[in-house]
Amino acid sequence: MADDDVLVISTAAFIVIAGLSKRKKKKRWRTTKIYRNRLVTRGKLFLNDLMQEDGAHFRNFTRMSSDDFFYLLESIRDKITRSDTHFRKAITAEERLAITLRYLATGDSFSSLQYLFNVSKQVISKFVPEVCKEIINTLSQHVKVPSTTVEWLKIAEKFNETWNFPHCLGALDGKHIPLQCPINSGSIYYNYKSNFSIVLMALVDGDYNFIFVDVGCQGGVSDGGVFKNCQLYKDMEKNILKFPGCSPLPGRNKEMPYVFVADEAFALTENIMKPYSGRHRKGSKERIFNYRLSRARRIVENAFGIISAVFRVLRKPMLLEPETAKVVVMATICLHNFLRKSHSSRNIYTPDGTFDKEKNGKIIPGSWREGNGDKSSLAPLENVPRKSSISAQNIRAEFTDYFCSHGSVPWQNDYA
Ligand SMILES: *[C@@H]1O[C@H](CO)[C@@H](O)[C@H](O)[C@H]1NC(C)=O
Ligand SMILES: *[C@@H]1O[C@H](CO)[C@@H](O)[C@H](O)[C@H]1NC(C)=O
Repeated sequence: MADDDVLVISTAAFIVIAGLSKRKKKKRWRTTKIYRNRLVTRGKLFLNDLMQEDGAHFRNFTRMSSDDFFYLLESIRDKITRSDTHFRKAITAEERLAITLRYLATGDSFSSLQYLFNVSKQVISKFVPEVCKEIINTLSQHVKVPSTTVEWLKIAEKFNETWNFPHCLGALDGKHIPLQCPINSGSIYYNYKSNFSIVLMALVDGDYNFIFVDVGCQGGVSDGGVFKNCQLYKDMEKNILKFPGCSPLPGRNKEMPYVFVADEAFALTENIMKPYSGRHRKGSKERIFNYRLSRARRIVENAFGIISAVFRVLRKPMLLEPETAKVVVMATICLHNFLRKSHSSRNIYTPDGTFDKEKNGKIIPGSWREGNGDKSSLAPLENVPRKSSISAQNIRAEFTDYFCSHGSVPWQNDYA
């Protein structure tokens, strides 16, 4: 007997049995069943189509290789289908992950995704945060602060090698992620321009990976105070981060700590270097320091640039409650590091030429900047001028002297 015959017979048997029960119940059962089958079929077709087209469509759709898609899918499959009603089971785990990735990639509203996929926006709005949470649980080990001095030193080596900035443990930056006035949130997410936003604070290593991220720590604090509320800052103050000990810069004598490089929005401390403020004469020591600092900071600008160019959900005001928006943002961060480290997805996520390159000081703009115009980057934090300690100023002065002597690069006078 052919398989089809078995199916017909068993289906017939079902209908007969079902027909014996109450009329009302039978009707509901049949509609649900038919609807479910249709959805399952549609989900399979959708993915099959996606997979078959030479892979380019799939990669563009999900922003990753199919190997990584299925790796991710199998890691979270049980969890994203766990607590489901009959109805919601009808949407396969494949579809849930694909729709969530599509949402991250485009930032399209749930209403427009609903037409694309024929899944209701209420259902989408329920499972997208769930899938994001599971992506975070599975991938969060890819985002971690170094736990040993040796790991920190590796980062410093990379910054010294690539950007000629010794004693640098990472580039620090914060950005506003816009939200559209969510309901039920008090004033705590208002930013300085009275629009809703959450703040993404990030530390990036020499290879464009996020090593520390804090999403939404603003909570009514002015931009200048955001970093002080982050765990990284608190651990740094407590001196428990296992930073390498002080040592002189090459060819110099002053004992120097290791530092993060940051912009004007941060306070100058013994471990955070920021540019000299104000105007300075061309070719002055201050201009040279600022130029050298900005080179090392380009890495975090590029990391934010690529992540918001690929996951465009970060660029549009999200129509989400802040707590949900945080989960969405964190999922993109985890995916960024995951895709950067993956053999099969690395070149899909950041193909050659993605990042800015430099040749004898001349910048070749990275491809992530193309077509972005001025809207390229996320809104920066507000500059807050503040006093800094004498010892922090002395540390910056020593970097400055180093960059103007032993540590100079041949082209710096052309650009500073
Ligand atoms: C940084 O790199 C220079 C060469 O560009 C090297 O001479 C120096 O030893 C390095 N410094 C540190 C602290 O690793
Ligand atoms: C704030 O919101 C208003 C209206 O919603 C908009 O016109 C303005 O551009 C926003 N400002 C910023 C800094 O996003």
